[in-house]
Amino acid sequence: MVMRSGFGSAAVLALAPLAVFAAAQAQTAPAVPAPAPTPAVVLAPLSPEQALAAFAPGEGREVTAKACGTCHQPALIIGKKYDAENWSRVVDQMVDRGAVVADADYDTVVNYLAAHYGPQK
Ligand code: HEC
Repeated sequence: MVMRSGFGSAAVLALAPLAVFAAAQAQTAPAVPAPAPTPAVVLAPLSPEQALAAFAPGEGREVTAKACGTCHQPALIIGKKYDAENWSRVVDQMVDRGAVVADADYDTVVNYLAAHYGPQK
């Protein structure tokens, strides 16, 4: 019994500084919650016309602008130099995130991206 109560008070003593620290933290916390972290990508920035204009002319431009121009700046795509394999991977990732690419358009989009935003450009 003596040991148990001794342990108990030791634990209270050990935790006391934590409680003081937590109280100090609570007092200095800002009244307004900190803003959410800025997303890496500016979402939904362009109209469909602006998105289309941003992509290079060529076969697959319309369908790519439609599938890829709605969530983020085309600059995110245009700055890349990926081959078809890597573009295919990116398109898969974007579909996972909610991009709509019809099966019939998939190759068109990947080929368009690789042709215009590929490693040789
Ligand atoms: C549903 C919204 C959405 C659509 C539609 C979309 N994306 Fe994205 N994309 C995102 C988000 C969100 C990020 C940021 C991910 C991150 O910060 O890691 C991103 C990032 C990217 C990146 C930069 C990251 C990387 O892997 O290099 C590229 C390139 C990209 N998208 C290409 C495309 C292409 C190509 C399409 C069309 C097939 C597309 N996106 C359609 C949401 C979307």
